[in-house]
Amino acid sequence: MYIVDSKTMHRLDEQLIKQQRVSSLDLMKRAASGVKDYIDEHHTKLVRILIVCGVGNNGGDGFALASLLKEDGYVNVTLFTLANENQLTSDARFYALRCAQLNIPCFHQLHELEGLLKNSEQCVDALFGTGLSRGIHGDYAQVIHQINASKLPCISIDMPSGIHSDTGACMGCAIHADVTISFACYKQGQLLGEGRRYCGHLKIVDIGIPHEMIAKEEHAILLTEDKTRQLLPKRFEQSHKGSYGKVLAIGGSRSMHGAITLCAKAMLRSGVGTLTLFVPKSIGMLLAMKLEECMLIEADDENGMFAQGALSLLKEKIGDYDLIVIGNGMGRTKASEALVAYVLQQDTPCILDADALWSCAKYRELIKRRQAPLIVTPHPKEFSYLTSKSTAEIKADPFKAVREFTSCYPNVTLVYKDYVSIIATDKKCYVNCIGNNALAKGGSGDVLCGIISGLYAQSKQAIEAAGAGVYVHAKCADELLQVKMQTVFYQVISSLPYPRYIKLY
Ligand code: APR
Repeated sequence: MYIVDSKTMHRLDEQLIKQQRVSSLDLMKRAASGVKDYIDEHHTKLVRILIVCGVGNNGGDGFALASLLKEDGYVNVTLFTLANENQLTSDARFYALRCAQLNIPCFHQLHELEGLLKNSEQCVDALFGTGLSRGIHGDYAQVIHQINASKLPCISIDMPSGIHSDTGACMGCAIHADVTISFACYKQGQLLGEGRRYCGHLKIVDIGIPHEMIAKEEHAILLTEDKTRQLLPKRFEQSHKGSYGKVLAIGGSRSMHGAITLCAKAMLRSGVGTLTLFVPKSIGMLLAMKLEECMLIEADDENGMFAQGALSLLKEKIGDYDLIVIGNGMGRTKASEALVAYVLQQDTPCILDADALWSCAKYRELIKRRQAPLIVTPHPKEFSYLTSKSTAEIKADPFKAVREFTSCYPNVTLVYKDYVSIIATDKKCYVNCIGNNALAKGGSGDVLCGIISGLYAQSKQAIEAAGAGVYVHAKCADELLQVKMQTVFYQVISSLPYPRYIKLY
């Protein structure tokens, strides 16, 4: 399933109109039919339905819906709009006039809205869609507050009005939809920020835009189980450890040996062929005891962290690895910075995580010049080291920040890690929306880095390994939460005086 921004969606509508000779009125009708199908499924034709329309084409979808419902025998359709006929776009005006011909009552005064809402069983929000461009104030804000306060079930057309369709930001106030019915593609704002919560149940309906047409435009792809299966490396019966990659992981320190341990364990469980750890001497023995499958290179150590001498040992041992992973639990010192700079200058594919990302602010030119595959896995704070944007700026519009970064660094695969993760190069973009806040703890990132590294070692495909790694990591968290919830609920239930036969799952 594709994810687009509002400009792309607008272009797609225009292309469909031009190339497939569909009229804009017909397109509006298709969108309205998609919403009507949902209403048909959930209501009888007696339902008292109030459709609240704005001045733009989202309002037009609302008027088209009202006319379709009325023509199909719905007897209690009512319209409310603050706009007069002259303010409407021409397509919206066409359907508003059609509604007038069908004698659908249409109200305009704000003081009438409360009564209309009280008298209705279903509200449809067609105030603003992808055209929302500024904060909502005055009468429009009143309309939104009244709809929310009415607690009527509400279907939003395309976007919950008040949510920015590119960023998911709430522009002052927004409709709390129970269902949002959108068209052809997900809009970025439905997955990000407040947008996710305000959409309620999100349904995308087909309005006849061919997949090839969407694929040619700038878009992202939502990761699903099926999609992820396509990205996972294949394993073959007649294979051996050499078939699945030789990895060198550089990192660890006395106070953060857990980070490289978690990364290594995840890598081993994700199918890496062989794994060698390059760590400060003082934690070598500890890791050897925890990670029996790994080989070890113990480097010069100062206070439990890499010392300057570590670099010459790395130069000696760098060998012919398929992948170098650097950063987990390494700490931020001059010696570790030197290791990062050296690794960046090698032709070996490389993953930079955690503390290695901190060093990157200095090495942006090295990253730009690099030809060999490079995966970076920053969370918003780490991403700010790579971009000179503040964390707040990045979080306000992550897609924009990701696009700017990937166009500057075309050879890099970016894994932007947040509650919605964006995995992108300048050519491809995947988005992960599963997972849960159980992952919001130290060590999760190290495990993710290990999974991505393990997958890359096998497939040698950077964005595929990164996308699949993020999805698998999140999916594990969701499945573990289910198990945990069942256990917790079972404990709670069994400690209460309820009959034992009550089962939550
Ligand atoms: N307050 C008041 N008016 C606003 C605000 C605001 N905060 N923001 C935008 N507008 C006005 C614009 O000036 C414009 O007149 O709303 C109108 C745009 O609203 P939309 O209907 O969202 O935009 P439009 O581009 O006409 O239609 C896009 O049409 O294809 C359908 O539903 C689909 O979301 C899509 C919509």
